[in-house]
Amino acid sequence: MKDADTMQLRWLAAQGVAREAGALARRRFEDSSFKVGFKGPQDYITEVDGETEDLIASRLHEAFPGDGFIGEETAGRPTPAGGAVWVVDPIDGTANFARGIPHFCVSIACVREGVIEVGVIYDPVRDELFAGRRGHGAFLNGAPMRVSDATSLAKSSVEVGWNLRAGAAKYLDLLRRVALWGASPFRTGSGALGLAYVAAGRRDGYVEQHINAWDCLAAILLVTEAGGYVSDFLANDGLTKGNPLIACAPGVKEALVSAVEIDGIAL
Ligand code: IPD
Repeated sequence: MKDADTMQLRWLAAQGVAREAGALARRRFEDSSFKVGFKGPQDYITEVDGETEDLIASRLHEAFPGDGFIGEETAGRPTPAGGAVWVVDPIDGTANFARGIPHFCVSIACVREGVIEVGVIYDPVRDELFAGRRGHGAFLNGAPMRVSDATSLAKSSVEVGWNLRAGAAKYLDLLRRVALWGASPFRTGSGALGLAYVAAGRRDGYVEQHINAWDCLAAILLVTEAGGYVSDFLANDGLTKGNPLIACAPGVKEALVSAVEIDGIAL
């Protein structure tokens, strides 16, 4: 089978697995009897994260046994040289999930030789499936997505992703800069959905001082395929260490990049 055909199979499989995993997460969210803990300060984990990741890992392994796997909650499987690697966040927006807030998603990306080939995000509460394949477009429940036509930060809404990995002072500075340049800042607690909303034209930009690959890879492909700008997340070992990130509509790229001035970001 040709390479392009196997990637098409991965794209279809990722959509089915995201829906199945999302249905499991939604059922468990609704019965709300799961255990909640912390991996670190403000870093929530629930037992459903592990259950959902196990389901995704086993489905993908059954279908593509030679592929590598990097999941938020488990150790990665070795990646064959030149092979495809799945990068998975079973529940992005875990803090929302843990506190009964219906804003979370499953995020599944497939990367090969440093290039994101497939990106799928499923929001099981709204039944919204965001799916993109490199060179083939990005779709929301089957309809093509386009980033917004914003040209001014003063009319833009920008999500400012938050975690404590880069420190509270850096977060406040980023937030200050976004607000001072006139954009309306948001923080909704799911980086993957925040970025998917940029792809769908619901927000004009997303910025974060440090984000991990499982939170953003699928969405990066969606934004790119929907005509948006994304900084070079995979530079300097972003796949394993994470990186800063800027994603936005092309009309506000120049203004947003100079507004936020993130140190060490690969543009
Ligand atoms: C977090 C969320 C949050 C983002 C953080 C992530 P999690 O992931 O996506 O919005 O700002 O960088 O760590 O813990 O919900 O999977």
